[in-house]
Amino acid sequence: MSEQSEYDYGFLKDEHRSAVQETLALSFGISDYEAWKARYGQEPLRTICCQGQFYGCLMPIPMGQWFGGRSVPMVGVAAVAVPLEFRGRGAATFLMRRFVQEMHGEEWPISTLHPASWGLYRQAGYEPAGSFFQYTMPLKDLPLHPREPAFRPFRPEDQKALELCYRRAVRHRNGFLDRGPVIWRRIFGSTDHPNQGFVLPGPKGLQAFVFFQATQQNKWEWNLELSGYGAIDRDSSRRLLSLLAQQQTQLKDLEFYGGPHELLLESLPHRHFEAKLFEHWMVRLMHLPKAMAGRGWPLGLQADLHFQMEDDLIPANNGAFRLQISGGEGRWIAGGEGRIRIRTPDLGPLYTGFHSATALAQHGRVQAQPEDLAKLDAAFAGPAPGMADIY
Ligand SMILES: CC(C)(COP(=O)(O)OP(=O)(O)OC[C@H]1O[C@@H](n2cnc3c(N)ncnc32)[C@H](O)[C@@H]1OP(=O)(O)O)[C@@H](O)C(=O)NCCC(=O)NCCS
Repeated sequence: MSEQSEYDYGFLKDEHRSAVQETLALSFGISDYEAWKARYGQEPLRTICCQGQFYGCLMPIPMGQWFGGRSVPMVGVAAVAVPLEFRGRGAATFLMRRFVQEMHGEEWPISTLHPASWGLYRQAGYEPAGSFFQYTMPLKDLPLHPREPAFRPFRPEDQKALELCYRRAVRHRNGFLDRGPVIWRRIFGSTDHPNQGFVLPGPKGLQAFVFFQATQQNKWEWNLELSGYGAIDRDSSRRLLSLLAQQQTQLKDLEFYGGPHELLLESLPHRHFEAKLFEHWMVRLMHLPKAMAGRGWPLGLQADLHFQMEDDLIPANNGAFRLQISGGEGRWIAGGEGRIRIRTPDLGPLYTGFHSATALAQHGRVQAQPEDLAKLDAAFAGPAPGMADIY
């Protein structure tokens, strides 16, 4: 697709502020633009316009995402919106494609988003690459014991220890966010409706934490909804569940989000919970040398994989490349025999461990000899990718 167009891409201009506010209100019900913008910090909105008229916007969110035990710099995308009267003319497609090119220029390795439509984001090279599950279980089924060690309320000065505890809890879970300030603000809640936070101190820092609020279901029923939680080991997980169980006299269900497997729940003596697939999030690999060098690889694995890449959006990603893996490090360098033929978008679900190379080959999304497929499977193998945040 040509990037030549009548649209101009860039940062939000002052004269478009009210059009943006109306579009965000119409699209997402955002009634207080200033409060909404404050949650996103300094990052400017990206917009497109045509002959001075506003045609669409998106909000980049800089953060990281864990793959192979390392945090890979990742730019999330939120608030993609086009005014109602201009929809269906390719505006959002143009906006997303220009955004991907801009972020590649800034050497962001990857981008991840929660899609409202796969079709739109596919046109910018994103593919489904991980799962986001909603868990529900009756609070009365949670064990009330043990009641020690003691949790205490979260205090602002716990922030650093909280982030450390969260990293220890999730760093080996592919796809989980290395949260930036925007995501932490969502977990803490708004000034008007702050979430309640509790932490479990231990000898080497915080062992567990949880943030929640009660949400009304109908006149008589309230649920306990977690905005974030983490526990570094099995004992802390048990204790976290028994803390939440103390709310069972008044509240009905526990609700939270997570990946396809939640170790927290395996500390229960029973299997009485519901896991509902909320959606698959999508990934776009942008800067391949940084993406491959930034993640962790299986220690003990040695591989030299020869790719022939195709990317209709990022010229630098086209051609022959070698992925050399050794000592837990990966290197993406130009050249080689081009034995594995794949488009950059299809490398996304392989990179996250969402699909094996063998499964992608079965669907014609990678072409390679069986021995190269087997090496790819070994290199990218890992726990099924999940996420516990929406943005
Ligand atoms: C989603 C949205 C941004 C699309 O903007 P747009 O400029 O109309 O999109 P495009 O014309 O570039 O369409 C690109 C693709 O998106 C998908 N798409 C667009 N509108 C869609 C809709 N209403 N329902 C489902 N898919 C849609 C289609 O796959 C489309 O490709 P096609 O035209 O070949 O079928 C726009 O409808 C919008 O602002 N919606 C409200 C906010 C929202 O849902 N944002 C997405 C948050 S993740």
